[in-house]
Amino acid sequence: MKVAVVGLGVIGAVHAEILRKRGDLYAVCDVDESKLSAYDAVKETDYIRLLDEVKPEAVHICTPHYLHADMVIEALKRNIHVLCEKPLCICEEDIVRILEAERASSATLGVCLQNRYNASNVYAKEYLADKKILAGDALVAWKRTAGYYASAPWRGKWATEGGGVLINQSLHTLDLLQWLCGMPKALTASVSNLTLQKEIEVEDTATLLMEGDSPLNFFATIGSGRDLPVELTVWAETAEGKRETIKVMPNYVVINEKIVSFEALAPSKYGKVCYGSGHEPLIAHFYDCIAEGKPFPINGEEGAKVVRLILAAYRSKNNKTEISK
Ligand SMILES: NC(=O)c1ccc[n+]([C@@H]2O[C@H](COP(=O)([O-])OP(=O)(O)OC[C@H]3O[C@@H](n4cnc5c(N)ncnc54)[C@H](O)[C@@H]3O)[C@@H](O)[C@H]2O)c1
Repeated sequence: MKVAVVGLGVIGAVHAEILRKRGDLYAVCDVDESKLSAYDAVKETDYIRLLDEVKPEAVHICTPHYLHADMVIEALKRNIHVLCEKPLCICEEDIVRILEAERASSATLGVCLQNRYNASNVYAKEYLADKKILAGDALVAWKRTAGYYASAPWRGKWATEGGGVLINQSLHTLDLLQWLCGMPKALTASVSNLTLQKEIEVEDTATLLMEGDSPLNFFATIGSGRDLPVELTVWAETAEGKRETIKVMPNYVVINEKIVSFEALAPSKYGKVCYGSGHEPLIAHFYDCIAEGKPFPINGEEGAKVVRLILAAYRSKNNKTEISK
């Protein structure tokens, strides 16, 4: 497969390294030419020229959030497979445009929600498959400083990042909560900036109370004193009516009192530890699905779910708000 990576920043380098190892890295594209010299691949600075002249069979979109929708649509229009980094997009209109382009294209669209491939999350998903979900809670408490936000001009702005802790750092955990417990129908959310008022326009802290088949609560902040491990808890009932508590941590799952451990997420095998170990299996699965003519499970609609939750949270302003379908 001739694959191109677009955007060779922090996460683009992770995609490029995985593709290089697979023997699939064909081209790299970044507006910043200095990012391209490290790669033994066709080099391009213009995305449309990459699609029309370099003609990759697939592209990985690893650019700032506000560019995702148009880049995904341009690739799909040309029937080029696309794997888009999270978030799929940053507004409701773009969800509609992307899903239309996906339907009209013969190419596959995948969204990089790689934490669904972490061993503890895979285990929890399988464990919960035959159980009734009663409730779910998740917590993300990380630290991001003014220095982090100064590292790229698109960060911390509504127009280019599309939000703060919800649409960036905690998106994976909110996605896991809905993936394990089911998609809510409405929510009430409070979104605020408690620690970085001078540095960023967007929120650093958010609380979501969600309603649907089961109540889900979510709290996320990047104003913590340090990075704590992400914590997700599901309350469920077995077919025999037994109530269970399933706590899902990055490297282990606790079912009632019993601990099931998994290999610790390797520090920076590919990028930061908080990215988890899911990029490599997700990318392998994406290309296996294409080769076998099967649908990739995290398609446009699946990748849009967490964006729908986040956009409803931004609309909510402490009032009950419907989540778009
Ligand atoms: N899945 C994960 O765990 C994970 C982790 C980190 C980042 N991400 C996502 O990856 C994306 C990129 O984040 P990052 O931290 O790597 O950002 P970054 O700022 O480090 O890199 C973005 C790159 O895109 C390039 N770029 C900007 N405009 C471009 C254009 N028009 N054409 C080509 N290249 C262009 C920039 O020059 C830069 O090199 C974001 O969507 C982010 O949320 C995902």
